[in-house]
This record gives sequence, C-alpha cells and structure tokens, in this order.
Amino acid sequence: MMYFLLFFSPFFFFNQTDSDEQIDSNEIVFEKNDYEDQLLDEKLKNDLLVQEIENRIIENYSLIEKIDFFEKTMIEKNEKISFLEEKTRENNLLSEQIKLLGIKADENELLVEKIKFLDKKMDENVGLKDQMSVLENKRSTTSRVYLELLKRCLLNTIYEDPNMNPHLPLNYDAALRENGGDWPLLAHSLIGKKRLSQVEECVHQVLKDEVPGDLVNVGTWRGGTGILMRGCLKAYGDDTRNVWVFDTFEGVPAPNGSKYPIDAPWVFNVYKELAVSLEQVRLNFSKYDLLDDNTRFVKGLYAQTLPSTPINKISVLCVFGFLYELTMDVLVNLYSNVSPGGYVIINDFSLPTTQAAVNNFRNAYQITDPIHQIDSVGIYWQKNN
Ligand SMILES: C[S@@+](CC[C@H](N)C(=O)[O-])C[C@H]1O[C@@H](n2cnc3c(N)ncnc32)[C@H](O)[C@@H]1O
Repeated sequence: MMYFLLFFSPFFFFNQTDSDEQIDSNEIVFEKNDYEDQLLDEKLKNDLLVQEIENRIIENYSLIEKIDFFEKTMIEKNEKISFLEEKTRENNLLSEQIKLLGIKADENELLVEKIKFLDKKMDENVGLKDQMSVLENKRSTTSRVYLELLKRCLLNTIYEDPNMNPHLPLNYDAALRENGGDWPLLAHSLIGKKRLSQVEECVHQVLKDEVPGDLVNVGTWRGGTGILMRGCLKAYGDDTRNVWVFDTFEGVPAPNGSKYPIDAPWVFNVYKELAVSLEQVRLNFSKYDLLDDNTRFVKGLYAQTLPSTPINKISVLCVFGFLYELTMDVLVNLYSNVSPGGYVIINDFSLPTTQAAVNNFRNAYQITDPIHQIDSVGIYWQKNN
C-alpha cells in the first residue's frame, strides 16, 4: 500500500516532472508517512466501523429475533388474555347462576318448610277426614234409621190399619202393604214399602252424585211420597232443594174417553177415597215436622199446573198418572227438566193406560234407558248421562 501510494501519488509525479525545484525529500517522506498513517488510521476506523456495523447488524438481528419472540409472546399473551377474558365471562355467568341457585336453594328451603307444614296439615286432615267419615257414617246410619222409621209410619206398618180398597179384602195384609197393593185406611201412603224405599234410594243417590234438581211428587194423595222426599232432604242435611207436590187435592179426574179411548174404562174419579184436601196434606206434613217453605204445593189438574210452574231442574220425578192422558201430561211437561243422572219413577206401570203412555213417550223421544221393575206395578229408570 505504501508503495502504491508512493508511485502513483501526485507528489511522486510532481517530483519527477519538476526536477528543477529543490524539495526537501525529508519533508516529502514525512508527509507520505503522515498520509499513510492517516490512511491506516482511516482504515482502522473503517474496520472498526465495519466491525461496529456488523455488531450492530448482529445486535439488530438479535433485536429482531427478540422482537419476533416478543411479538409471538405478545400474541400468545393476547390469546391467553382473551381466553382468560372468556373464562372470566363464563365465571361471571357461573357466579350469576350460583347466585340464582342460592336464591333457588333458599326458595327450596322455604318450599320444603311449606311442604312439611302441608304434610302436617294433610296428616291432621286425614285425621279429621277419618273423624268426619266416622261422623258421616254415624249420620248416615242415623239418617237411615230415621228414614226407615219414617217409612214405617207413612205406611203404618206399626199399627197395621186395614185396607179400604173395595175390590180387596178389608183386613191388613203385610204383603200388599209391602208392594203398594192396598189402600190403607189411615196410613199416609199407598205406594208400599218397596216403592217408598226406591224413592229414598233415588234421593240418596242424586245427593251423593250431586245430580242437580228438585224432588217432584206428581199425585200425592195424603202426602206420603212428598213427606218421605222432604224427610230425606232433612236427614241428609240438604236445604238447597225444594220438594214439589202436584195434585188436584180432589181426586183423580174423569177419563176423556172420546179423545183417549184407552182411558175410557178407568174411572178412578169415582173413588172419593183418593180425594184428599190440600189442608189435610199440609197437616200430614206438619205431623212429621216436615212442613216448611222447602215444600211447594201446587193445586190443580196436571195439564193446567205443570206447564206454568217454575221448576227449573228435577233430580227425582215420582209420577202417579193412572190414565194415558194424565201420564202423558206429566212426561211432556216435566221430562225435559230431569237432569242427566236423575230418576223417573212410574208408580202404576201395571195399568195398560200408563204403560201405553210411557212406551209411546219413550219411543217418541228415543229414550232407551233401561227400565227397572220395583214391585209388581212400579218401575223406574235413570236418565242417560
Ligand atoms: C194414588 S194417589 C198418589 C199416592 C201417593 N203418591 C202416595 O204416596 O200414597 C194419586 C193422586 O193423584 C192425583 N191425581 C191423579 N190425576 C191427577 C191429575 N190429572 N191432576 C192432579 N192430580 C191428579 C189424585 O188426586 C191422587 O191424589
């Protein structure tokens, strides 16, 4: 390098071309050396700079790597942060749910307390129910005993009064009284033990089944059937229903033979024994302590009274019609009022007149409810639900 600088430097040429001038060679050498040193110094500096730059580059690389690493770490951290944020959200939700469950648990505890309380009450109620059913049974037994005695009084099977139907022996006949075959001289009913018991049973059943409607006795004579109906309501503690009693209170009307030939031979109107006044019937009710506002007496012919009487629903309808016309009057006017589940009792179905009326009516209205025989003359059916 030094030689290169020596031969090619301007100072060298200058020295060669201008040989006339006297230049101090020592000075040239000195300058040359100085210049060389300077170059060397520069080179050294350059080298150092290069080295420095290389170092910086290396450092930069490592910085870049570090930055990469940090970026990567940052990304991971961010991911972790968003994961943690997500988890925090979930945790918040969970703690909300836990709070809610806490509230629910409190409520449940209250409910458990309530259930315990209700259980206790239930136990008490079962106890009360047991006591009530014992009382009910006692009441029912007492009612049955009362009604049994009432029937015996109404039929006078106790003093056994004689028969007064002129077509039968006049003595007391227990079998006839049982089946409603005689006309008692004194007793308040002539329909016999079996039919009275059926009336009682029907009333008991409609009360038990809560079939709505009043009790209706069409044709009452001395009041026996009506008295039993009122007695049943009293015995079973029902004061919501009425007993309706329909009669001429003057006996059976004469048949209209020209209009209803089937009725022509049946002249029940001649039997004055069948005519009992309203006053007498009311008196009979009062003798059993059963005369009150729950019994309604309606005087007059069925054809005239039934259409205008404000009966709403009927649960038990007990009919004495005798004739085709009269039986039809009753069914046409009252049957539609009988509640489903209610009962219809026909007392004189053995008569061809009554039988024809019932059959025609049932056929006309397509009534197929089965007919049950009570005794040799009486029948009943339960109106279809
Ligand atoms: C055999 S008695 C009734 C018996 C009574 N149910 C009992 O328990 O003894 C018939 C009654 O129906 C009445 N009767 C018959 N046809 C009637 C009609 N068309 N209108 C009003 N009452 C009538 C009579 O006056 C008579 O009192």
